[in-house]
Amino acid sequence: MERQILPSVLSADFTALHEDLKRIERAGARILHVDIMDGIFVPNVTFGPVIVRAIRQATSLHLDVHLMVDDPVTWIDWLDTVQPLYAISFHLEATPHWHAIVQKIKARGLKAGVALNPGTPVHWLESLIHDVDYVLVMSVNPGFAGQPFLPFALEKVRLVRELIDIRGSSAIVEIDGGIKLHNIQQAVEAGADWFVVGSGIFKTEDPEITTKKLIEQIQK
Ligand code: DX5
Ligand code: ZN
Repeated sequence: MERQILPSVLSADFTALHEDLKRIERAGARILHVDIMDGIFVPNVTFGPVIVRAIRQATSLHLDVHLMVDDPVTWIDWLDTVQPLYAISFHLEATPHWHAIVQKIKARGLKAGVALNPGTPVHWLESLIHDVDYVLVMSVNPGFAGQPFLPFALEKVRLVRELIDIRGSSAIVEIDGGIKLHNIQQAVEAGADWFVVGSGIFKTEDPEITTKKLIEQIQK
């Protein structure tokens, strides 16, 4: 799949969600990023299956669910009530049985992703790189939208890309946190494929125009 902008619904206006979703659909986005936080793995709580079901009904976009939770297995089961999903990622720091969870996600016909906190070394991916569909590199510490971009994440994207290429894996690289119009080009150059953008879209004056501009940037 070509490079994609994934607007993060966490920064949308939940009192007018349908309108915000239409804006990014009109702009040409194809995948919506959905951040699930449980208040244990990260110091914040977002939403559960009821709201994800409402999001599912409100948009035709593919849904990429980012699990920032302590117990991904239970959450994957809860999410069975949301149909269809497209992709689910979980954090390697949260749980010991990585391959089993990747298989559980794939058994549902979904793309399976693994996410790394900024402090987690890239070599954690070595045993998994052939099994996953994507690697999510966090460029902020997970928990909140609107945080400043951590520039060393670019080096991590380069290293993940190198590992993928050296091993002949077909995994793609997603970058998440602090991406805006002014720095997205650096993430493109580092080798990312999917670009999550929350406040950099929904907190701008015109989310539709900003999304269009971001899509232009990644197509250069
Ligand atoms: C952070 C979330 C991100 C967040 C991105 O913990 O995983 O997906 O929504 O928001 P911005 O783009 O504002 O950093
Ligand atoms: Zn996220």
